[in-house]
Amino acid sequence: MDETQSPINLWGKRLVLGVTGSIAAYKAVGLLRAFAREGAAVSVVMTQAATKFVTPLTFEVLSGKRVATDLFESHEEMAHLIVPGQAQAIIVAPATANFLAKAALGLADDLLSTMLLNAQCPVIVAPAMDGDMWTHPTVVQHVQVLRGRGVVVLDPEVGPLASGQVAQGRLPAESRILDAVHAALIPQQDWQGQRVLVSAGPTQEPIDPVRFISNRSSGKMGYAIAEAARDRGAEVVLVTGPAALAPPPGVTTVSVNTASEMSDALSLHFLSSTVLIMAAAVADFRLKMPAEQKLKKQGKSELILELESTPDILAMLSARRTSQIMVGFAAETEQVLSHAKDKLREKGLDLIVANDVAQAGGGFGSDDNAVVILSATGEQKALGLMPKRRLADKILTAVRELCLSAPRRESLVE
Ligand code: CTP
Repeated sequence: MDETQSPINLWGKRLVLGVTGSIAAYKAVGLLRAFAREGAAVSVVMTQAATKFVTPLTFEVLSGKRVATDLFESHEEMAHLIVPGQAQAIIVAPATANFLAKAALGLADDLLSTMLLNAQCPVIVAPAMDGDMWTHPTVVQHVQVLRGRGVVVLDPEVGPLASGQVAQGRLPAESRILDAVHAALIPQQDWQGQRVLVSAGPTQEPIDPVRFISNRSSGKMGYAIAEAARDRGAEVVLVTGPAALAPPPGVTTVSVNTASEMSDALSLHFLSSTVLIMAAAVADFRLKMPAEQKLKKQGKSELILELESTPDILAMLSARRTSQIMVGFAAETEQVLSHAKDKLREKGLDLIVANDVAQAGGGFGSDDNAVVILSATGEQKALGLMPKRRLADKILTAVRELCLSAPRRESLVE
């Protein structure tokens, strides 16, 4: 069965349903049931005003979980809710004009508004209010601010309202809210048919059995790319240097230590791949002769290690390519774009992701990054500071648009 058509397409998804104080609060009960029918685990958060319209007990019975209403109440359910990263989407339905104002301004005076400030997941807001309120300039401005920040604010529907007015203010239909949640959570399968080889992490070049030369790469960017490609339908092989990250489910993960092991593992999978994304920070030098036993200091005041260069894996694979799309990364601390352009040309790449590893808030080890993508055909795309997982999706979209969709590469798309 096509999962996107099945009734369980939110299977295993962790959702927060925020309910605010509108007469339409009772419709959130139907929404909760619809999410649960599709397999989602839903935690409900109500504002105090919402509890005047519907009792928390109604939602508790249907969700099988305690309903959180109070920022200062401490129970396990609530503690989970306010931890960023726990929810995969927050849906506020119905959302009052008061809620929109608080969200737009970043006020955090109750549990729901506090959670929004912590949110790192998609936020979908379904407003319901009187028609004159929806068209009031203050509300219009708040909606604009929220949309500008990436919040999905659905337009309310036209119809009879509690005030007796017929105007635009009715809670959007359940099917529209569900569509918005699906669009946010079920990735497009636009990488289906691609076999993507990704490298990630640092390499470790031994000095002796207990010491090595390495770098600050955490592997987070490469892992995020592997996960994003998997979610978009690709078959993914991830070759990773030592990283403190769990192997992504659904991805064939090969662990290596040295540049030479990474080279062997990538060579093995390269010819059967359609795209190589080389996010690893490969050591450029290794010891000519690593010691077989632990080096002793024995009164020495200095130690000179003789290094030799490692193979440039990307350049070597580029020379062997049949029809693979080649994407490299350029980790730079100065003259980022000009160094990246040189690498793009010298290594025979289609695309390079230029990464200023000295920037504040991004680079090695960080959860966020900002990059510039440069293509062999001269396109340039700057992507501002954002979580590496979101950036991974943007990089994949750029690879699709600039390389996979280009006529000269059409034969690659199976
Ligand atoms: N790379 C590689 N093999 C190496 C070194 C780098 O395949 N031995 C790849 C990296 O994975 C990256 C790209 O080449 O995709 C650029 O790596 P980077 O470290 O930025 O540049 P280098 O080529 O090593 O050049 P330099 O250290 O002088 O900046």
